[in-house]
Amino acid sequence: MYNFTYYTPTKVIFGKGTEAKAGQAIRSFGGTKVLIHYGGKSVLRSGLLDRVKATLDDSDIPHVELGGVVPNPHLDKVYEGIKIAKENGVDFILAVGGGSVIDSAKAIAYGLGEPDRDVWELFAHERRAKACLPVGVILTIAAAGSEMSNSCVISKKDTADKRSYNDDISRPKFAIMNPELTETLPDYQTACGCADILMHTMERYFTSSGNMEITDSIAEGLMRTVIANALILRDNPKNYEARAEVMWASSLSHNGLTGCGTDGGDFATHMLEHEMGGKYDVTHGAGLAAIWGSWARYVYKDCLPRFVRFAVNVMGVAVEGSDEETAVKGIEAMEDFYRKIHMPTSFAELGITPTEEDIRDMARRCIAACGGPKGSAKVLDEDDMVEIYRMAR
Ligand code: NZQ
Ligand code: ZN
Repeated sequence: MYNFTYYTPTKVIFGKGTEAKAGQAIRSFGGTKVLIHYGGKSVLRSGLLDRVKATLDDSDIPHVELGGVVPNPHLDKVYEGIKIAKENGVDFILAVGGGSVIDSAKAIAYGLGEPDRDVWELFAHERRAKACLPVGVILTIAAAGSEMSNSCVISKKDTADKRSYNDDISRPKFAIMNPELTETLPDYQTACGCADILMHTMERYFTSSGNMEITDSIAEGLMRTVIANALILRDNPKNYEARAEVMWASSLSHNGLTGCGTDGGDFATHMLEHEMGGKYDVTHGAGLAAIWGSWARYVYKDCLPRFVRFAVNVMGVAVEGSDEETAVKGIEAMEDFYRKIHMPTSFAELGITPTEEDIRDMARRCIAACGGPKGSAKVLDEDDMVEIYRMAR
C-alpha cells in the first residue's frame, strides 16, 4: 500500500433544483463579479442559462457571459474568456456545462491568476501555475469528472495538440449537480459519459503497483453501478435514479477516491485517446471505448491478477479455465457492454481511418505528451503505442 494525499475541497450540492443555489454558493466563496461560461445551444434551449442568471441577480451578483465552448475545448476561446474577464473585473468563473466548459473555465481561471503569462505554457508543461481564480460548476453532463478533478484539458487547433495540465489549485470550489439537467442529453452523449466514467476508474484499477482493498472494493462497486445504470438509461433515458447514480459516479470516479493507496494508476488509454481527439476531434468517451479493448489485450498478461479480478468481480465472468482465459473473457464482456450502449470498439466503428503514418504520428505525439514511456499495468514505449493503435483499426 502506498502513502497518499486525498484532497477533494469541492463542495457538492446534489439533487433536484439545486441550480437555484448558485448565487448563494458564489457569495460564500467570495465571488463578487462572475463570468458565466457555457457551451453551445443546450443551456439556451433548456432555459438553464436564464435560470442561472436569475439566481445571480437574486443574490445581487453582477455577471458577464461567454458561450460557444465546443467539445474538446479550444485555446482560442480561453484567450477570449481571459480578455473579457479582465475587461470586466471578474473574480469568479461559473462553468455551466460539461467537461469541456469546465476545463475552459479552469484555463481562463489560470490565465487570470497570472495575467502576464501565456496560459498555454501550463499545457506545454513549461511551468507550474502559481495562482488560479476560483471556479464553480453547474454540471449538465455526467462524464469527465472535471467538476471535482484537478485536471484541465485544452486543444490548440493550429497544431492539433490536445494537452492536459493537472493542479489542485484548479479544483472547483463547488459543484452543483442536478441529475434532471442531464435528461436533455442525446443518448449518444449519455453513453459516451458512462464510457468515460468507467475509464477513469479503470485507469486507476489496472495498476501493477500498490494495493488497498477498500479502494478496490469501491472501484468495483462503482464500475458495476455505472454498467447497470448505463443499461437502464439506454432503455429509459428519463430514469432519475439512474441519472443520479451515474452523475455521482462521474465525480467519485475522477476525484482521486478510486486511486488511494496505489501508484496512481495507468492512464495510458487516456493519453492514447487524447491524440485521437486532437487529430480527429472524436468524442472523448467514444474514443476511449474504441481504443480500450486493444490496450487491454496488449497489456493484460503483464497485469494478470488485476484483469482476472476485474473479469470476476466487475463483469461477472465465471472462473473456469486458466487465468489468461478468464482475463480475456473479462475484456470481451466489457466490449460487449460497450456495444450494448452503442459505443465503438475499434477505429472503424468510431468512424476514423488512420494511416500507418497517422498512427506513427499519434504515438510520437503521445510519448511527447507523456514525457516518456507511460503506464502501470504495462509501461508502454512508442513502439507499444504504435502496436495498440494498429490493433484498434
Ligand atoms: O455545447 P452544448 O450545446 O452544451 O452541448 C454539449 C456538447 O455537445 C452537450 N451537452 C452537455 N450537457 C447537455 C448537452 N446537451 C444536452 N443537454 C445537456 N444537459 O454534450 C456535448 C459534450 O459536452 P462536453 O462538455 O464536451 O462533454 P464531456 O463532459 O464529456 O467533456 C469532454 C471534455 O472533457 C475532457 C475531454 O478530453 C473533453 O475535452 N476531459 C476532462 C477531464 C478533466 N478535466 O478532469 C478528464 C477527462 O478524462 C477528459 O479528458
Ligand atoms: Zn476521461
